[in-house]
Amino acid sequence: MSSSNAEWFARAQRVIPGGVDSPVRSFASVGGTPYTVVRGSGAYVEDVEGRRYLDFVQSYGASLLGHAHPAVVAALTEAVARGTTFGAPTPGEVRLAELMTARVEGLEQVRFVSSGTEAVMSAVRVARGVTGRSRVVKFDGCYHGHSDALLVAGGSGVAQLGLPGSAGVTPGAVADTRVAAYNRVPELDETVAAVLVEPVAANMNLVAPAPGFLADLRAACDQVGALLIFDEVITGFRLGWAGASDHFGVRPDLWCFGKVIGGGLPVGAFGGSADLLAALAPTGPVYQAGTLSGNPLATAAGSTVLELVGPDDYAALSARVARFAAGLEEAVASAGLVARAPVVGPLLGLFLSREPFAAPRNVAEVRPLADNGLYRAFFHALLARGVALAPGAYEILFVSMAHDESALAGALEAVADAAAVAAAPT
Ligand SMILES: Cc1ncc(COP(=O)(O)O)c(C=O)c1O
Repeated sequence: MSSSNAEWFARAQRVIPGGVDSPVRSFASVGGTPYTVVRGSGAYVEDVEGRRYLDFVQSYGASLLGHAHPAVVAALTEAVARGTTFGAPTPGEVRLAELMTARVEGLEQVRFVSSGTEAVMSAVRVARGVTGRSRVVKFDGCYHGHSDALLVAGGSGVAQLGLPGSAGVTPGAVADTRVAAYNRVPELDETVAAVLVEPVAANMNLVAPAPGFLADLRAACDQVGALLIFDEVITGFRLGWAGASDHFGVRPDLWCFGKVIGGGLPVGAFGGSADLLAALAPTGPVYQAGTLSGNPLATAAGSTVLELVGPDDYAALSARVARFAAGLEEAVASAGLVARAPVVGPLLGLFLSREPFAAPRNVAEVRPLADNGLYRAFFHALLARGVALAPGAYEILFVSMAHDESALAGALEAVADAAAVAAAPT
């Protein structure tokens, strides 16, 4: 019987490539053996050795309320007893679509899929279908899932592993993808079907949009008749009650969602105006489909989360995160290192350096900070003290509604110690 992380990971490596089902979970960029999680509760996870960690991974943002929230568990228990999937319309998908469209100005319809990858892939197909154009512009360091055309210059795991993209993606698949630097409005022309952007870049650590960037992008798209797509897979219903388009007052043509809207179950969605989405089959010529799309369990969990969290909760979380960010910078400074912990609403990044540095505006400026070697030691020292960050310097910290003041205060003590370990000469 396996009981240690090492034993479980050895077993995993025999039957699952690299021992993980998503490369960001591997410890490839920080070294060592991943902890294998058996359960989570609120802000904490527990591994197979019975060790408890304050969890800033939170399934890379899928969990907003924290793990195993009683209301989500109850909704799922009730839903599962009614059957898990039918291949027919269900009330649950209608309710979740109503909740989402009621909040986000301009979002009239959504179609559910099973992942963020699918959501973005499908939104791009709609954009190409309605414009009759081929080109898509994306930004260096933004991650939009692992579909062929969009993996190029992705952030997150691709950046952590130092890959420019992926083997197995043909030149043809990316021939219509153009990559631009984040926070600079690219030159567009009438071959461009869509500009795809993370309204807050959260896969190159955290980079906020410069003032005016999103509005200028909107104007540039309008000038050439290209569609603007906001990938809100992370920001959607996390940045605030109505997500990034509301927060920044810039309305895209198409939105992509995932993570929070599934309450921890596999889900994604893309949406826009009813006019635009009429292009989708069965009413229009753009085909898109899915056996488990709008899954009753995922929509039950997602609706429960959206119903439970009100605008005040987001404001309180953002304030808590802002205080924590200031504490992080101080705790790291106490060890003689320099930290920047940028925040946008409740989204939180963390850059470490031995020297003062300016806030990065794009992935080229992130790279020297993420790759300076400090994160690896910091990550392990924190993990040893019961605080789990993502095992990669291109990820952000996800603070859930369950991370209360006392948990965050405890984390800051661990951060000061871990920063001292990272600062020590090797
Ligand atoms: C901004 C963004 N878009 C799309 C995706 C892809 O979502 P999924 O992993 O559910 O396919 C992610 C995943 O992290 C993401 O952060």
